[in-house]
Order: sequence, then C-alpha cells, then structure tokens
Amino acid sequence: MQTTATSAFRKTAETFMAGAKTLPQRYFVSPEIFAKEQRIIFSTQWVYVGHQSQITKPGDYFTAEVAGESLIVLRDKGGELHSFYNVCRHRGTRLREDQNGHLSAIQCPYHAWTYGLDGRLIGAPHMDDVPGFDKRTIRCTRSTWRYRKDSSS
Ligand code: FES
Repeated sequence: MQTTATSAFRKTAETFMAGAKTLPQRYFVSPEIFAKEQRIIFSTQWVYVGHQSQITKPGDYFTAEVAGESLIVLRDKGGELHSFYNVCRHRGTRLREDQNGHLSAIQCPYHAWTYGLDGRLIGAPHMDDVPGFDKRTIRCTRSTWRYRKDSSS
C-alpha cells in the first residue's frame, strides 16, 4: 500500500475549531501561576538548556537560566560535562555574567575565589589564616541539571 506524505504544518485557520478559546490573560501575567509552573514543570522536568556541541573543548562554557536560577554549564579538562549554580560559595556573587566563552578556571569577580572546572575551590585569597577554613571542603554547587547522552548527539 502506498501512502502519501502530508505536511505536519497546518495553518491556524485550518485547525480552528468553533468554540475554541485562548487561555485567559492571567495565565500569561500572573506571578502565582508562573511560580506554580516553575515549581511543577521547570523544576521537575527535563529542560533543554543547550547542546554538548556548544562546549566541545575543555574550558568551554555557556550560561543558562532555568526556573529563575542561573546555571553555568561547562566541559572540564577531562572532557566531562558539569552544571553548577552560577553563584559563588563565598558571598553569592554571580560568577559569570556573559553567555558563553572559554575558561581555564572560574574566578569570582568579587574577592577572587577561584574554582576548578570540576567545581573544586582551588583558590581563596586571604582565607588561609581563617580558623576552620578548609578550601578542600568547598565546591561550586552542582545544579540538579543532568545531561542526556544519546547516539544522535
Ligand atoms: S563573593 Fe565570590 S569571592 Fe567573595
């Protein structure tokens, strides 16, 4: 049996159904509905933020925002992908303001705490004399972001 290929695209006028309505305006402007969407959808479901082909070399990164949180997605020196909250563990400064680039390490612009590409804190100026401070115990906070490997990527 031979079938005929049909276009997946259909003009709006062709799909209009009598009695159909658009969503009420509140679904587009309500902070409460937006917060509910973030909590129920964007914080619990897969959200595409980018493709691994955007960060092919060690040190390549891009930033993305998901559910109001800024993330930094990067490839470490071993080629592994990581995603961290784009926030310094010291005082919460945004680590990267730009959208993409290349790094050998992540350095906070405020007090220069420096993180390796795997998220470990590798430098914290003037902190060596602080009692109890052990930079080995501090790292960028991993986001709950996960990446999906498949053969088509
Ligand atoms: S806030 Fe980042 S080093 Fe102080």
